[in-house]
Amino acid sequence: MPSCHELQVVELNRLGNGRFIHLRLQSPNWEWTPGQFVMLRPSSWGPDPFGARPFSIADLDEQGLHIYFQVVGRGTKLLAGLAPGDRVHVWGPLGRGFDYGLENPLLLLAGGMGLAPFVGLIKSHPTPINLELIFGHRHDLEGYPFQELKQQTLAWSFQDKSAEDLLELKRVLGLKIRGYAPEGEILACGPFPFLKMVKELSKGCGARTQVSLETVMMCGVGACLGCVVPGENKASLKACSQGPVFRAEEVML
Ligand SMILES: Cc1cc2nc3c(=O)[nH]c(=O)nc-3n(C[C@H](O)[C@H](O)[C@H](O)COP(=O)(O)OP(=O)(O)OC[C@H]3O[C@@H](n4cnc5c(N)ncnc54)[C@H](O)[C@@H]3O)c2cc1C
Ligand code: FES
Repeated sequence: MPSCHELQVVELNRLGNGRFIHLRLQSPNWEWTPGQFVMLRPSSWGPDPFGARPFSIADLDEQGLHIYFQVVGRGTKLLAGLAPGDRVHVWGPLGRGFDYGLENPLLLLAGGMGLAPFVGLIKSHPTPINLELIFGHRHDLEGYPFQELKQQTLAWSFQDKSAEDLLELKRVLGLKIRGYAPEGEILACGPFPFLKMVKELSKGCGARTQVSLETVMMCGVGACLGCVVPGENKASLKACSQGPVFRAEEVML
């Protein structure tokens, strides 16, 4: 059941070029599923910026609630200025997370900050060495929590800086997706073009693929229709409350 807490910042670390942040807040002691998210709004914010911002729960352990984010605009720039002791309103855990069996082969596909939900998934999995992670990223690897994941599971990274790099990533994704179909489960998170590519590659080979959407959100709880995405059967889907994780064939990308 989601709830709202005012939590203190425990630490904030800049990674890579400084536009990537690891934020650790006090633990809210929730039960959660990888793929679920929180809405964050620092207590110091006045009427502008108005809305809370959505972020994947990267991990939640005895040390706190871990968020990884990239500075892309006004809200994330202000969030990056938080310091230990600052207070943040946190709504969560929100949405529908990934649905997977612990016994099944799992292929994890992450694009950019879509790596975040896999941090906790890999850490909490009983046999992480049996998982496989493919990570496509544009910025340098130091900005992402990739190296720590590489120590726990089979992980490959692909930096895409050119059209050729993107083709190579597509080729590898296609091979891997076909390799895991039909018994394995494929979990993907990242920007829309990345998820669109994963969905297309999953079609026709019987792959059981779930995609986690990073749409723009306002309320995060199904009340404002700010996050609606088209469903394949023409129905509209609320990414915040019906997602952000959907079966790939459920949602139009
Ligand atoms: C369920 C969910 C989980 C997410 N998890 C993470 C995460 O773990 N780490 C992370 O870095 N980001 C994550 N995001 C994206 C993050 O919410 C946005 O980057 C953030 O809200 C941007 O706020 P801003 O005020 O800095 O940007 P704005 O000033 O509002 O916008 C700057 C740019 O970012 C785009 N943008 C704004 N909001 C979003 C959004 N929600 N998704 C994508 N693009 C957006 C705008 O179109 C614009 O181009 C997640 C989004 C969702 C919906
Ligand atoms: S963000 Fe308000 S309905 Fe989804």
